[in-house]
Amino acid sequence: MNAFEYRNGHLYCEDVSLSQLAEEHGTPLWVYSENKFLDEFRALRDAFAECDPVICYSVKANSTLQILKSLNAAGSSFDVVSGGELYRVDKAGADTTRVVFAGVGKTDDEIRSALEKNILMFNVESEAELDAISRIAGEMGVTGPVALRLNPDIDAKTHAKTTTGKKGNKFGMDIERHNELAAKVLADPHLELRGIHMHLGSPILTTDPYEAAARRAGEVIAELRSKGHEISWVNLGGGFGLSYRNDEAPAYSTYAKVIVPHIKAAGCRLALEPGRSIIGNACVLVSRVIYTKREGGKLFVIQDGAMNDLMRPAMYDAFHRVWPVSTDVPLPTDCEADSIPGCEKTDVVGPVCESSDYFAKDRQLPPLERDDLLATYSAGAYGTCMSSNYNSRPRAAEVLVNGSDVKVIRRRETYDDLIAHEM
Ligand code: LLP
Repeated sequence: MNAFEYRNGHLYCEDVSLSQLAEEHGTPLWVYSENKFLDEFRALRDAFAECDPVICYSVKANSTLQILKSLNAAGSSFDVVSGGELYRVDKAGADTTRVVFAGVGKTDDEIRSALEKNILMFNVESEAELDAISRIAGEMGVTGPVALRLNPDIDAKTHAKTTTGKKGNKFGMDIERHNELAAKVLADPHLELRGIHMHLGSPILTTDPYEAAARRAGEVIAELRSKGHEISWVNLGGGFGLSYRNDEAPAYSTYAKVIVPHIKAAGCRLALEPGRSIIGNACVLVSRVIYTKREGGKLFVIQDGAMNDLMRPAMYDAFHRVWPVSTDVPLPTDCEADSIPGCEKTDVVGPVCESSDYFAKDRQLPPLERDDLLATYSAGAYGTCMSSNYNSRPRAAEVLVNGSDVKVIRRRETYDDLIAHEM
């Protein structure tokens, strides 16, 4: 579904006008389309239906409680990377026996609480972690369910800061060690080997890395079974592409085509950990122009959204489409075009005192003036969850739209909130 559409030159989320939302709830404002992320979840599940997958939505992409509740009601499970995320999933009312837990630095307290909640499996990233899970499970008189997170040394061709499956990344254990690691688990009465896990990076816009990983997973499973391990799960992580620009991400069915045959041949259950592709295009960040100025031969539009809200451009030079909420100029297919009729080259920046605080650089945009509203697209993934109070800016509110229904799912922070934890 197209969650954000212009009607007579005004942008809508489902059946609600973004100008009206900005009027009622202020800016900056995160606006979600519930039907969009639910559609994405169902589309992914349907594409892999032949393997009866467990879709563990990756909480790190967006951990707002109401979003977790909504995905839980649609049948999603969850991938967590901290005790805090596990707490959120529990609070969302999810069945924690279908939760997977990754991360290179799980603490004893986090391991204990995951064992108490009877999670499906830990994606184990080191031998030292296997020892810790075994020790704690032993103390608790339970068995720790584990999947070995293997680093397959596959180049997923993502941004250097978001690649994880190459030798030399901090994640997982070298795939060549799978026999030795599995033998260690088998010999340990407090551990149970449930599966293997690989996550290659994010976002991955081609299918080759997944094909290679699924094939390697099949080979490893076959070898471990031949050595007597009863291993039943392959978890291929997340990383599915998102169209930040214009339909550049492959369809889920394209990924499924290269993954499913290997999983079926291995006779395994499949777990996936998608985050970005589910929630990314279900949200825009609405902001309001404060000033415009021309200096140094450039046109700057200064608006009230900033890097403390959406960190991705500053951190990864990430591209997000930015377009006025109300305009006669249609949203172009190519937002990076050198020239667009009725537009001028513009930098869209925020009020934070850093040159890296920008949403768009040298972008063709229609004329803008004070109080105009802007929509920054594809803001659902790694937006709110990476936002901060930098420059003592209160975090923005989040609203969830379903049809013509609007729910505030996180209220705007106040100045009192800013100092609430200080003594
Ligand atoms: N599973 C594991 C083990 C992961 O490390 C990640 C993401 C995912 C699943 C979910 O990947 P997704 O489906 O969302 O691509 N902050 C960065 C992205 C960091 C990704 C970290 N790991 C960004 O804004 O691009």
